[in-house]
Amino acid sequence: MILIIDFGSQFNQLIARRVRECSVYCRIEPPSMSLDEIRSLSPQGIILSGGPSSIYEKNSPKIDTGIFKLGIPILGICYGMQFMMDALGGKVQKAKRREYGFAELSVKPRQGLFKGLPKTTPCWMSHGDSLATLPKGFVISASTENTRIAATANKRKAFYGFQFHPEVEHTPKGIAMIRNFLFEVCGCEKSWTMRSFAKNAIAEIESTVAGKRVILGLSGGVDSSVAAMLINKAIGKNLTCIFVDNGLLRKDESAQLKLRLKKHLNINIRFVNAKKRFLSALAKVTDPEKKRKIIGKIFMDVFEAEAKKIKDAEFLAQGTLYPDVIESQSVFGGPSSVIKSHHNVGGLPKKMKLKLIEPLKYLFKDEVRLLGKALGLDGDLVWRQPFPGPGLAIRIIGEITSRRLSILREVDSVLLEEIRAGGYYKKLWQSFAVLLPLKSVGIMGDHRTYENIVAIRAVTSKDAMTADWARLPHKLLGKISNRIINEVRGVNRVVYDISSKPPSTIEWE
Ligand code: XMP
Repeated sequence: MILIIDFGSQFNQLIARRVRECSVYCRIEPPSMSLDEIRSLSPQGIILSGGPSSIYEKNSPKIDTGIFKLGIPILGICYGMQFMMDALGGKVQKAKRREYGFAELSVKPRQGLFKGLPKTTPCWMSHGDSLATLPKGFVISASTENTRIAATANKRKAFYGFQFHPEVEHTPKGIAMIRNFLFEVCGCEKSWTMRSFAKNAIAEIESTVAGKRVILGLSGGVDSSVAAMLINKAIGKNLTCIFVDNGLLRKDESAQLKLRLKKHLNINIRFVNAKKRFLSALAKVTDPEKKRKIIGKIFMDVFEAEAKKIKDAEFLAQGTLYPDVIESQSVFGGPSSVIKSHHNVGGLPKKMKLKLIEPLKYLFKDEVRLLGKALGLDGDLVWRQPFPGPGLAIRIIGEITSRRLSILREVDSVLLEEIRAGGYYKKLWQSFAVLLPLKSVGIMGDHRTYENIVAIRAVTSKDAMTADWARLPHKLLGKISNRIINEVRGVNRVVYDISSKPPSTIEWE
C-alpha cells in the first residue's frame, strides 16, 4: 500500500484516485500519524501531499521527520516537497513570482520518475514558495521557465520532489510519473481490484461480527445496496435490512425498489411504510434546514423502533464512503462549516448502543460501483444516480403538499425517461427536476394559463464535492421541456439551471 500524508491540499483525493487507478491500494492519513502507526501499515511508498501553508508559518502542518529514516521511497508534491527539502537541509523561500497554471516542464535526465517521457511536457503549477537550494545528495531533475527546481531527486534514497501537481488532469503525463513512482521505485504490484477487496472485506466482516446480528438502513441507492450485498455474503441471514418509505420518493420508486431489492438481493428486508408520518410532520414547513431536521429525526425514530424488533442486534452497518472519512479527519479538523445538515444515520449507533460497521469507508464512489458489479449487483442498481435522503422534499421549494409532490413526480419521470433515451443517464452524476414556488403566465390552446415553473438540473461530477452543469444538447432540452409542458398538468414553464458547484450546490435546498 501507499500512504498519502494529507497536508491540506484540495487535490488530495485526486492523488489517491490516481494511485488506485494504477490498481495499487492507498490511504490518506493526517500528518499527526506517529512513526509507529506508519510502520505498522508497512507502506511501500509515501506521498507527501501539497497544501495551502508555507513551511515557515508557525502552524504549518508537519509530520515526524523520522519518516526520512525509514528507508521507504518518498514523493513530495508542492508543499510536501518543500517540507521534505527543509527537513533534509535545503532552503525554501518566497518565490519572486507566484506561479499558477500551465508551465512547460523540461525534463533533464529522462529516467526515474520521468522514464519514458518526452523532453518537455506541460505541467500544472500552484505555488507561492519555491526551492532556493537543495539538500545534499539531491539533483535538479526538471525545470520550468519560472522555476529552476521544478523537480528534484535523490536516487540513492529514493526521495523525489515535484513543485508541480502530477495528480491533476492539466499535467497530462502526471499519471505516467505516478506510475513510475509506484512500480519502478516502490516496487508495488497491481493487486488492488474490487475482487480482492471483496474477498478481504467479507473475511473481515465475518470475523468482526462473529455470529452476532447486524442491521442496515437500505435506501435503494448504490452504496447501501453494495454494503448489504457484501455483508450478506459474509454473514447471510444474520443481516437484516430496513427500508423506510418516507413518501418522498419518485414516481413508482417505492414499488420498483421493493421488487428489485427482493429479486436481486436475496436478503432479509423489512419494508416500513411511514409516508403519513413524514408528510404530516412536513405540512406547511418551508425552511430547508427545518425540512431536513424533521426528516432526519423521524427517520431515526422509525428506524429505531423497527430495529428494536430485531433481537440481539449488536452492529449497525452504514455505506459511508471514503470522501466523508477524509473530510472528517482533514488537517484542519473536519468539515469547515455546515452548509446543509445531511440526512444520515450518524446519531443512531450511539443512541441505540450499536457498534458501527462501515465496509465501504475506504472506497470512492466509482470503486463502489465496480465492487457492486464484481459482486453481481443488477446494472440498474449499480448505475443508479445518487438520490438524497430527504428525497423530493428538498426539490420542492416551499410547501410540500400531495398535489405538489405528484406534479414533481410526473415531471421527474418524463425527464429521466428522456435522459435515459438520450444515452445520458450514466454520463451524468445526477439529473432531476425542482418545483419552484412561483407561477408564471402562459398560453395554451388560446387560453391564458397561470401555472408552476420547474427547473431542470443536470450535473457532471466525480464525487459531488464539485460539479459542473451538463452541456446537454439543445435538442434534448427542447424535447424535455416540450414533453413536460404538454404532459404534466400544472406546469407551463421549464428553465435549465446553468450553475456549477461551487458556488451553487447540487440540490436547491
Ligand atoms: P449538495 O446539494 O450539497 O449535494 O451539493 C451533494 C450531493 O449530496 C446529495 N445530498 C444528500 N444525500 N442526504 C443524502 O444522502 C442528504 O441529506 C443530502 N443532501 C444532498 C445530493 O443529491 C448530491 O449528490
